[in-house]
Amino acid sequence: RIEKIKGREIIDSRGNPTVEAEVTLACGATGRAAVPSGASTGMFEAYELRDGDSARFGGKGVRKAVEHVNGVIAQELTGRNAANQMQIDRLLCGLDPSENKSKIGANAMLAVSLACAKAAAKACGLPLFRYLGGCHAHVLPVPMMNILNGGAHAGNNVDIQEFMIMPTGAPTFPEAVRWGCEIFHTLGKILKSRGLSTSVGDEGGYAPNLPDDEDAIKVILEAVEQAGFVPGDDVKIAIDAASSEWFSDGEYLLPKKQTRMTTDELCSYWKDLCARYPIISIEDPLAEDDWEGFQKITRSLGDKVQLVGDDLFVTNVKRLRKGIELGAGNAILVKVNQIGTLSETMAAIDMAHRAGMTSIISHRSGETEDSTIADLAVAVGAGQIKTGAPSRSDRVAKYNRLLRIADMIPSSGVYLGDGAFTNLRL
Ligand code: PGA
Ligand code: ZN
Repeated sequence: RIEKIKGREIIDSRGNPTVEAEVTLACGATGRAAVPSGASTGMFEAYELRDGDSARFGGKGVRKAVEHVNGVIAQELTGRNAANQMQIDRLLCGLDPSENKSKIGANAMLAVSLACAKAAAKACGLPLFRYLGGCHAHVLPVPMMNILNGGAHAGNNVDIQEFMIMPTGAPTFPEAVRWGCEIFHTLGKILKSRGLSTSVGDEGGYAPNLPDDEDAIKVILEAVEQAGFVPGDDVKIAIDAASSEWFSDGEYLLPKKQTRMTTDELCSYWKDLCARYPIISIEDPLAEDDWEGFQKITRSLGDKVQLVGDDLFVTNVKRLRKGIELGAGNAILVKVNQIGTLSETMAAIDMAHRAGMTSIISHRSGETEDSTIADLAVAVGAGQIKTGAPSRSDRVAKYNRLLRIADMIPSSGVYLGDGAFTNLRL
């Protein structure tokens, strides 16, 4: 039974305010959760309520959302059973008649939704992944480590937002993390030796200026080899184009390099890159409403390459259902704050898995020390997690939580490697 709900304004990894909630149960168990925040947010995401008062945090304060946590939400949920997550989330949604949670704010709702689950898990004496996933939860995800940042996450001249390594050949999750760290360090040395910047972007990856976006892939593959691994076999490349950021007036304009492309040209660009480099996954290769483009690329590359809908699906079952019907994409990126409650997030993952799609549990570019997504990834058996470079504590908190979970299930925990791509014919 929920006894008390307390919200507060804290700061995220970019020094912007965000909502934290603490839920206390009658038995004394407590749960605390903090909400992440995106930079390249999709237009169909649930609403992040900010104060707009320019005298505080440049208008980004979240006092109104915190007031909703301490006011209407606390009123509605006090006395309820925290273990009934569906009911908690339905009550939260019931407080806001809008389509996108703009009245209460998805940030206010999510903090409470997650904190309830954590408190209920504690009351049962279970780690969160076990509470949410039951006794079958045993898959440790393949990390997508974003070691080179561009786009809206970095001040460099690279248009593609994320270049990630996936240590699919590692035998275990802890080994995958070690491989990722060693490659990250080797990449840093290579960049330094070429006089390129080794300062990092929002997700902890390096953010050098490069003549061409393709050079990012080349230098990463060099780092993979120099670190002693085989590109393609041991380590694969994943990209997040975040191409919604490029789309305007029916065409794609890559803002930093000032390149223009049509949907067809962009599809050919991806096809060509995938033919020449060991790319296993492309996220948002087309923009958030370019369903036809997504269908096209899924038809041409979908057997061999994971085509991930982030801005396209926004963790929303309505948009995901459309994608499944159209054959647009073969994987979903899952971000809890895109939809605003835990139950809705898990419903989207479940729908994707039932349709033969894979799911990748994801952080946002603005994060906190909250590591709930690590537990969520294991709970739902997602098989993949995207949570930045092995650098900066906001990113590392999730990898470290997974290392602890791996220790909790030493005999049953499995790392699937290439087996995580159940959506592909490899
Ligand atoms: P965001 O970026 O958190 O800034 O939206 C992450 C992503 O696009 O996957
Ligand atoms: Zn994305």
